[in-house]
Parts: sequence; C-alpha cells; structure tokens
Amino acid sequence: MKDKALSLPSESHNNRITFFMNGQQITEELPAGISTLDWLNQTKQMFGTKCSCNEGDCCSCTVVIAKAVDDKVIYEAITSCLYPAAKLHGKHLITIEAMGTPNALHPIQQALLDHHGTQCGYCTPGFVMSMFALFAMHNHPDKEAIFAALEGNLCRCTGYQSILDAALEISRNYCKEDLIPAWCSEVESKLLEKGVPAAMLLLHKDSNRLVSKYLMPETMKLLFDYLQTENSAVVIAGGTDLMVQMNIGRKEFPVLIDITCIEELKRIYLQSDGLHIGACVSYAKMFDSELVHNSCPHLHKLISQIASQQIRNFGTLGGNIANASPVGDTLPLLLALDATLRLQTELEMRQLPIRSFFKGYRQTALQKREIIKEIILPLSPENSYVRTLKSAKRKSVDISAVVSAINLQRSLGYTQNACLAFGGVAATPLVSRVFTGLVNNKPLSSLDAAQIAKAVAAEFKPLSDVRGSALYRNKLIENHVIIYLSELQKEVL
Ligand SMILES: Cc1cc2nc3c(=O)[nH]c(=O)nc-3n(C[C@H](O)[C@H](O)[C@H](O)COP(=O)(O)OP(=O)(O)OC[C@H]3O[C@@H](n4cnc5c(N)ncnc54)[C@H](O)[C@@H]3O)c2cc1C
Ligand code: FES
Ligand code: FES
Repeated sequence: MKDKALSLPSESHNNRITFFMNGQQITEELPAGISTLDWLNQTKQMFGTKCSCNEGDCCSCTVVIAKAVDDKVIYEAITSCLYPAAKLHGKHLITIEAMGTPNALHPIQQALLDHHGTQCGYCTPGFVMSMFALFAMHNHPDKEAIFAALEGNLCRCTGYQSILDAALEISRNYCKEDLIPAWCSEVESKLLEKGVPAAMLLLHKDSNRLVSKYLMPETMKLLFDYLQTENSAVVIAGGTDLMVQMNIGRKEFPVLIDITCIEELKRIYLQSDGLHIGACVSYAKMFDSELVHNSCPHLHKLISQIASQQIRNFGTLGGNIANASPVGDTLPLLLALDATLRLQTELEMRQLPIRSFFKGYRQTALQKREIIKEIILPLSPENSYVRTLKSAKRKSVDISAVVSAINLQRSLGYTQNACLAFGGVAATPLVSRVFTGLVNNKPLSSLDAAQIAKAVAAEFKPLSDVRGSALYRNKLIENHVIIYLSELQKEVL
C-alpha cells in the first residue's frame, strides 16, 4: 500500500509543509519538531483540541487525519500531542473546530448532548474526534468496535455509559455518508489526485524548542546522506516513544530524521524465508493486513492489546524494537518466533537474529548510522502452538508488568523446538533457557506444569517498580507458564 500525497509547489521544499486543515489547503512554516497539538494551541490559537497528559495516555487531544492510501482515503484518529506537525504534510487534519456550531451540532455532538455524555467537557473533543474517525471508516460498527475505538479516551466525569450510549445511537441511526461533512468529501478527491510527496527539509531553528532540525527524506539514499552529514541525528518513526521523551523528559534532539516517508520501509510481503514487515509499518496497518492476519495470527491478536487505537495508528514495529524497552510488547513474540532483523547502513545490509539484538537496558546491536529496515518472521508450521500473554493493571492502554510468548511444535504428543520468551523480567526481553531444557522433546502428558513454572520463575530476578513488585512479577511468570502448559495438555487429553 502506497501513501499518496500532494504535489507541492517548489517553494515548499524548505521549512514549509502543505496540507489541508478543516477543508482548506494551507502552506505553513513550522518550528522544527513541534507537535500538532502545540502547533494548534500555540501557533494557530485553536484551543478546541485539549492538552491533558501530553504523553499519549488520555486521548483528550485526539484529532483526525485523512490520507490517501492506494485508491482510497482513510481516516485515522491520532493523539496530536505526540504527532509531529511535520507529518501533516500532504494530509487532511480535521479538528473539533470544524465539527459543528452551537446552533448546528454535528450528529455525534448532538448524540453526546442528548445522552448526557459530557459534563466538564474537557475530554469531549477527543471523544467526538475518535468517534468521527470510527464512523467515517465503518458503517454501523458494533459495540466491540466502539469499545476498541474509544478505549484510549479517558473521562473523569461521566462514567462512560452515557458516552457509549451516544456512540451506539449514532451507529444505529447513521451511515458514514451522513456523518462526513461535504468539505471532507471535497478534500478526499484532492487527496486522491496522483502526486508524489516532495522531498522535504525543515530547517527551522527555534531556540525555545528541543529540536532545531526536522528532516523528512523520501529515499534511503537521502536518509543516509543526512545521517552522514548530521552527526547528532536521531531517527524518528511514529514518535510515540520519542515525543514522550521530549514532552515529558524535556530531552533535546538537535536533529530528527523522520523515516516514515520512505516507501521501502512501509511494505509487508511474503517470501520463502517468511513474512517481511517494514520497520515503519504502523500497528494499524499490520492489524488490517491480510498477510499478517493469515501468516502471523498471534501478532495480529497481540496488536489489539498494544496502546490505544490513536497510538496504533502511527506507532511502528521498528520503533518498538529499536526502543528496546524491557516491556516492549512485541519483543517476546519476535524472540519466540526467532525473527530476523534486516539492518541497513549506507554501505551494507546485514541480517541479525533478534535474539542477538538486545545488549543491555535499552542497548541494542545497532551501529552508528544503521537503521532497522525490515523484520522477517518465519512462518509457523501447522503443528505449532504460538501464544502471547500480557499482564498489566488495565486491560487497555497500559504498559505490561510481564508479557510473554511461547512457540513450540507438537508431534505425536511430544514437544519440539520449545521456546518461551518474557518481557518485564530483566533489563532486556529474554528467552527462558530453563523452559527449553525442561520442555523440549518431552511427552506433553508428562510435563509437570507447576514444577516447570517454579523453575522458570527462579531463572529471573525482575525489578520492583510502579508496575509491580519483583514478587508479583515472579508470580506472573509462574502463572503464564501454567496457563500455556495447561492449555497444551488439555489438547492432548
Ligand atoms: C500512550 C502510550 C501507550 C503505549 N502502549 C504500549 C504498549 O501497550 N506496548 C508497547 O510495547 N509499547 C507501548 N507504547 C510505546 C510505543 O508506542 C511503541 O514502542 C511503538 O512501537 C514505538 O514506535 P514509534 O514508531 O512510535 O517509535 P519512535 O518513537 O519513533 O522511536 C522509538 C525509538 O526507536 C528508534 N527507531 C525508530 N524506528 C527505527 C528504525 N527503523 N531503525 C532504527 N531506530 C529506529 C528511534 O530513534 C527511537 O529511539 C506506548 C506509548 C504510548 C505513548
Ligand atoms: S494530551 Fe493526553 S493523549 Fe495527548
Ligand atoms: S466530561 Fe469531564 S472529563 Fe469527561
């Protein structure tokens, strides 16, 4: 799938981006690295989009992005506090200001009013925009789809039922054509006009900001040219980790290179060695991909447990790996599946098993000026048992206390190639050696789940932190092992 964007006038190659906002095409000069939320609130004095947490957790800042992908326009809700405004280039930004007027509310706003779905109102613009993205893409979504679209939006006042009732009423009574305003449909045809994204260079120095250059190469060649000339450059993909470091940690990134315009990094395709997923493929795109669904159903399932829809719309798999958090949710699965990373520098491409990638707390085998290009997932044979488990305090939008993945094959009641990997149990995600030793090539019926669980838990010395004490995490390790083995043993009985 190829994202299309506007053909740009030549003067927009420096410092400026061109996009649509609420139906109008605009060209803007941006401070480098500014978030869409700060740009709206500070530069445009548009305060309808609310800032609450500034780190992606509450979705009060949700806006909608419409963009052309292949031959259709898709609408995505995103958290504007983490979405660099430079990414708006060639897209349509839709904000609460354009949704309705006090005398003529948009049907979503009217339904919220009718169902008492708003009290202090701070979260309301975020809910309206999340619903707008959902209803613009789906006719009559069911309760489950509504939950999934809204699970990231927090409200301190209403207790949620009234908001859900409003969403259900919209779902029953309206089609997407009734809900997408005419000015949105007009922009759709412009977004669909053929055009290639122009190479864009934002070189705006602003002493008040933590970023002084934001570069957006469209080709690998240009990316490596920039990496060569910009010694302090850091790559940014979705920005859902990096922007938090900036917004909350006040971390400076003098030069950011946004790699999400490079088509080569956004492909999903099958080859004899497995399923290839480009490093800049978003969670949402993976979730919608039939290839991922058919070839790697366990990854498909795991994605719905990661963050919120708003974050999944632009967070990437490559970012999850390079970020190297010990609790990155995809990492145990990639370890258990024995995935391979394709790493690229200006001069060479090398393949590295992900099991050799994590070197220490947030340290990786990536060399200077090297990026993750693709992730290769070997296809699982039919007799495979692959599962993941995520334990966190909340069901959604929560970082794991412990996350795990198992991968083994069953043959005539015996196990083969048994592998169990964990996140949240050490400084890096890890494969359990003990589990492989105790389980591999054994009759499934002979495995003592409780004993194996204790032995595996004893292998790790997790830390105590806000997500759980070491004791609690050890108990979770045991429980994960027991759940997997009991499920497997039930199958052979
Ligand atoms: C509210 C919220 C909830 C979240 N929930 C979860 C969750 O449930 N589970 C979970 O695992 N994570 C979660 N995250 C973390 C984050 O969304 C993921 O780690 C995401 O996959 C990061 O991808 P990104 O593209 O946004 O990375 P970015 O922020 O763009 O980059 C992260 C790091 O990776 C580097 N990088 C990115 N791409 C490449 C590449 N191709 N090659 C080399 N280096 C690269 C960057 O330099 C940076 O150091 C959450 C984040 C937020 C804000
Ligand atoms: S302000 Fe909370 S998610 Fe953006
Ligand atoms: S209405 Fe007050 S936070 Fe939702």
